[in-house]
Amino acid sequence: MEEDLDSILKKLDRRKVERLEKDSEIYKIMARVFDTSTLLTIYRLINRGVFDVFYGIISAGKEANIYCALDKNGNYVAAKIYRIATSDFKNMRHYLVGDTRFKRVPEDRRGVVYTWTSREFKNLQQAYEAGVPVPRPIDHEKNVLAMEFIGEGGVPYPLMKDVKPEDPKKTFDALIEAVEKLYRDAGLVHSDLSEYNVMLTPDPVLIDFSMGTDIKNQMAEQLLMRDIQNLVRYFRKLGLKTPEPAEIFAEIVK
Ligand SMILES: Nc1ncnc2c1ncn2[C@@H]1O[C@H](COP(=O)(O)OP(=O)(O)O)[C@@H](O)[C@H]1O
Ligand SMILES: [Mg+2]
Repeated sequence: MEEDLDSILKKLDRRKVERLEKDSEIYKIMARVFDTSTLLTIYRLINRGVFDVFYGIISAGKEANIYCALDKNGNYVAAKIYRIATSDFKNMRHYLVGDTRFKRVPEDRRGVVYTWTSREFKNLQQAYEAGVPVPRPIDHEKNVLAMEFIGEGGVPYPLMKDVKPEDPKKTFDALIEAVEKLYRDAGLVHSDLSEYNVMLTPDPVLIDFSMGTDIKNQMAEQLLMRDIQNLVRYFRKLGLKTPEPAEIFAEIVK
């Protein structure tokens, strides 16, 4: 049973309730965008101190919204919140089934979106522990994920699709090294790598690990090749001479 907003608010401690009422607009918008269960999850993370205050929305993507928030210590964090009702959960389920880390994938919309979120968190953890440049994962619950905010003063760093790297050779090399480390040390393929999922600080940071899969996936090599091809295509357009994708691939999987 879905609870109504009032009963959820009653569950919060007094201070937080007052704060939510005072902080107004963003919460009102969130109350319209998300279902009650998602709001409850957000409020639980607020009570854990993972989030304290939500600022504006950074991105409204196909499946998820990204918000900038502050944690209880005043550090910026990014909140990735998957929408339940409008997600293409059949497609998500298809991609989860190939990932050997998930033995049983739920059949229902909500279960699929929760598993999807936990996979993204797990991917960030594995990548972060292997030393791949990714946002540090902080916490996740159900369809809500908290990670390090890649930006300054609440403003995200630009995506590589919007800003050309100052030193294309250096950025390309760093990205190939990241893909190699991801494959060899984290056992993962990003699977959605392109200029749309790289932020420049100006050093490149890989984001959006929702499609990330383990290297035992039957599709892993095909997905790795596609990631490499996307990077090569982007950097060749900038005029950089790069090795052939097949050479880079062979070097990584050898
Ligand atoms: N950790 C982060 N810190 C700051 N901004 C982020 C972070 N993660 C994502 N973003 C911003 O949100 C946008 C969408 O995030 P992404 O994970 O790629 O979601 P989508 O699945 O919608 O593509 C990114 O292009 C980037 O601008
Ligand atoms: Mg993306």
